[in-house]
Amino acid sequence: MKYESLAIHGGRKDKTDIKGVNYPVYLSSTFIQEKLGDFGEFMYSRSNNPTRNNVEVLAAQLEGAKYGLAMASGMAATALVFSLLKPGEKVLINSNVYGGTWSYVLKVFEERNIDYEIVTNFNTYDFDKADEKVSTIFIETPSNPLLDVTDIQVVSSKAKAKGMRVIVDNTFMTSYLQKPLELGADIVVYSATKYYAGHSDIIAGLVVVNDDAIYNELKFHQKVLGAILSPFDSFLLTRGIKTLPIRMDRHLENTMKVAQYFVNSGAAEKVYYTGLETHEGYQIQKKQAKGDGAVLSVALKKEYDCTIFCNELEFFDLAVSLGGVESLVCHPASMTHESYSKELQDQIGITENLLRFSVGIENIDDLLMDIQQALDKSRK
Ligand SMILES: Cc1ncc(COP(=O)(O)O)c(C=O)c1O
Repeated sequence: MKYESLAIHGGRKDKTDIKGVNYPVYLSSTFIQEKLGDFGEFMYSRSNNPTRNNVEVLAAQLEGAKYGLAMASGMAATALVFSLLKPGEKVLINSNVYGGTWSYVLKVFEERNIDYEIVTNFNTYDFDKADEKVSTIFIETPSNPLLDVTDIQVVSSKAKAKGMRVIVDNTFMTSYLQKPLELGADIVVYSATKYYAGHSDIIAGLVVVNDDAIYNELKFHQKVLGAILSPFDSFLLTRGIKTLPIRMDRHLENTMKVAQYFVNSGAAEKVYYTGLETHEGYQIQKKQAKGDGAVLSVALKKEYDCTIFCNELEFFDLAVSLGGVESLVCHPASMTHESYSKELQDQIGITENLLRFSVGIENIDDLLMDIQQALDKSRK
């Protein structure tokens, strides 16, 4: 089945007499056993719930993978994969990752005696010189908010040759645009709050894996951490996924036009979008993904007042998050990435004049008109 059809028809296929076109919401914390000692597939909803399992099966199918795990948030999904780390191990992580992931690394890694190293560019990283303690690499590609691209295939093969486990946060792409497991990664994590759910109305996370041993360990941790996705949110996530491909096509179309508009406007010091040929990661992105996603960042020239620009936008709401049908703008330095120290922000380019846009699926003429009027009003 092709991706677009799978997004609509995938998931569990239960053999019951009731045949709704949508998988039902099983609001039951516990399930009746046939007899003593026979627990059946479903016993208690923290361990397994049919509605959650439906979206877990769907997530795995969309990735062409064996297993999916649905969590209460993207951070719960990240924390779940980090639960595989043992004290004394070390993680290599790319330099601009989501602020929440960074907070976890800064605080929880230290408490758990897990070491880390920030890698500015995995594509040029010399794995032969890596510390022997490195057990895992964590890649966000394209990265948040600077859209750095890591060559998943090349980097995974070098890391795996050293016995390292490769985790990819694929939130910006979804499996519709990029399939990290097929490129050699071991584990994929998602904030499904974003494009998968697509309507800014739930918080959700997904983990997708192929390896039986990794899955069994993650499944155990999912159960004991208990940060599972609720049945109703699982239903909403399944519903969102049905329109993911068609939403994503429009997101891509709009984002390319917004990126070009900023380039031609002369108002931008730099436009960060992998779809622009001038972007450093343009070729790698073309090779490994079917599209460039719908997040772009823009450093406005100093002739423009960022605060006035954000306040004057009408279609782009000033809010954290991304991936919903509506367009959003955010100021990473004070919003999504405020957990980075000022020095680190300056070092990696999260500057005061940097704005991140999540381009929605509105009419493009309205979006471009909105940007122009906000630029006009914010010019000093
Ligand atoms: C790339 C990325 N990963 C993970 C997360 C965390 O997801 P959640 O907010 O669903 O916990 C986010 C949230 O913004 C994100 O952008």
